[in-house]
Amino acid sequence: MQIIGDKRTMRETVMEHRRAGKTVGFVPTMGYFHQGHLSLMRAARRENDVVVVSIFVNPLQFGPREDLADYPRDLERDCRLAEAEGVDYIFNPVVDEIYPQPFLARVRVEGITEGLCGAFRPGHFEGVATVVAKLFHIIPAQRAYFGQKDAQQARVILKMVEDLDFDVEVRVCPTVREPDGLAMSSRNVYLDHEQRKRACLLYRALEKGRLLAEGGERDAAAVEEAMHEVLREEPGIEVEYLGAYDGLTLRPLRELRGEVLLAVAARLGKARLIDNIPLLLED
Ligand code: PAJ
Repeated sequence: MQIIGDKRTMRETVMEHRRAGKTVGFVPTMGYFHQGHLSLMRAARRENDVVVVSIFVNPLQFGPREDLADYPRDLERDCRLAEAEGVDYIFNPVVDEIYPQPFLARVRVEGITEGLCGAFRPGHFEGVATVVAKLFHIIPAQRAYFGQKDAQQARVILKMVEDLDFDVEVRVCPTVREPDGLAMSSRNVYLDHEQRKRACLLYRALEKGRLLAEGGERDAAAVEEAMHEVLREEPGIEVEYLGAYDGLTLRPLRELRGEVLLAVAARLGKARLIDNIPLLLED
């Protein structure tokens, strides 16, 4: 496995493999790997000749009062884990390599970025779309791998690729969870012992909604109330949003049908956690 910090070298390396007829799979990350990240690397390994993983904590997607400075990092451990998954290249640039000053361009996907996390993290998805667009140019892979865990992010990338004609196939892989249901996240390290015990309630609330919806409940308000009830048991959980959304437009639903996303964001102390369950409801 080779670690590359320079974007020209990175691009030329991928181009050489492509000229030799190889398929390249790309997994963008901010590092501090857990099984969710590793599952994306495994999918990329299965489906491509060459696997590239980027590790870059992207300042552009953090708000001024967010956790950029505290974001957990451990490059050595990440490299060991990636190598064990058969990753061929790690792209690990410094901030100036990605954002030489002045850096003035932005990629903005409208409509689907206004609700859910977009409402609580202004500028976040612009930061994500901008860095991913750059990474797609630096690492011109045929396939790129994202997690369902960040459902809105995956929608934003799919729409960006469609609308801006990026020549890459975006694969969205299932959410990997801890045994108690908590979705794996680099930010779970912010939870203290008590918060960690309570954090699985986010998934329990979504599961409650899923059971109701799959049992035939079609009234979004009834499903949302039942999900809220699960979280109300716990005082330390501060809900940002919790509800049923259209799986494609991400707008809040009144009636559940077709592609539905049950989604939640909540704060537990210092940690902001998100989770979701996608549903396909036949009539
Ligand atoms: P990061 O949070 O490091 O996540 C990297 C990828 O891993 C994302 O596609 C995310 O959805 C996926 N992932 C995270 N937790 C997961 C889980 N429990 N199960 C499955 N997949 C999971 O998302 C980002 O970085 C950044 O926004 C990035 C796309 C790299 C742009 O900076």
